[in-house]
Amino acid sequence: MKLNIAVLPGDGIGPEVVEQALNATIAVCEKFNHELNYKHALVGACAIDETGNPYPDATHELCMQSDAVLFGAIGAPKYDNDPSATVRPEQGLLAMRKKLGLFANIRPVTTFPSLVHKSPLRADLIEGADFMCIRELTGGLYFGRPQGRSEDGNTAYDTCVYSRYEIERIVRLAFEYAMQRRKKLTVVDKANILATSRLWREVAREISKDFPEVETEYLFVDNAAMRMIQWPKSFDVMVTENMFGDILTDEGSVITGSMGLLPSASIGAHTSVFEPIHGSYPQAAGKNIANPLATILSAAMMLEYAFGLKEEAELITKAVAASMDANVVTEDIASEGVKPSSTSEVGQWIVNYIKAN
Ligand code: IPM
Ligand code: MN
Repeated sequence: MKLNIAVLPGDGIGPEVVEQALNATIAVCEKFNHELNYKHALVGACAIDETGNPYPDATHELCMQSDAVLFGAIGAPKYDNDPSATVRPEQGLLAMRKKLGLFANIRPVTTFPSLVHKSPLRADLIEGADFMCIRELTGGLYFGRPQGRSEDGNTAYDTCVYSRYEIERIVRLAFEYAMQRRKKLTVVDKANILATSRLWREVAREISKDFPEVETEYLFVDNAAMRMIQWPKSFDVMVTENMFGDILTDEGSVITGSMGLLPSASIGAHTSVFEPIHGSYPQAAGKNIANPLATILSAAMMLEYAFGLKEEAELITKAVAASMDANVVTEDIASEGVKPSSTSEVGQWIVNYIKAN
């Protein structure tokens, strides 16, 4: 098969972790005789520095022409500490999501046996937890207008907007995923307070009639946040709006053991994007210490979701689990007494494993 991918390393640790994910992808493509073509492009703070635009047209063009996008992270402290900056790296990510129509962000939360001890949660609560959070990605507070400040600067406002159409397409997708899994869907909202949530619930109830085999439950987001920690095994597929999904999936990483382990796929109208859920982690940038596994697992998701290459994806996932079993891991997940490996050492170990297995 021919695979044309756009590689967008972005900022902070993005370039380091993406390099390892790309190496794993190259190794797996060589092994299975696929022709992999890839081109790099700028996004985020580095794109602002070069072009003044966090999502340059050239980057968008490349994404549109590619079959899939492998993405790292965006964000830089100089912008975080300057609320007055009008051009911001995050706008690049939001523009990419909007322009590529990436309305669904799929974030699997699973546990790895060798890592269960790294979670601050009790092993018996999390062992075997395996659910998928489907986060709406192009609506809600992130995109609602008006947004801004009053003239005197003393009042600020954001707007949460959802149309029936936006809710329908993501909820339907979530039901379809539930059908492929354990047939349970949790719709997370704040319908006791928010008008948008009430519309979510109404639409979800209507669509649930088309999926009688799926057990559907409705949870308020505050309750869902609690239950994720108390009883993560009660979830199969969870669907929620943009901001709730952002927050709940960071919480989900605690179940897996580290932010450095959660991959994601963003899918929609055009090319799909595959990215780790962690951010740019600027404190670690350039130090070769960041965990590359979330990005390597994102590459596995890319092979499966964008190209239907299940066996290839599985080999990468197996290699990741094996690296943890072999204690070849970065400091965030290293057990006591185990010498942490560097980003590139972990990546190289995984490439070797792919070649040998
Ligand atoms: C994520 C990130 C982004 C978001 C930021 C970097 C804009 O936290 O992908 O979860 O909030 O969506
Ligand atoms: Mn986030």
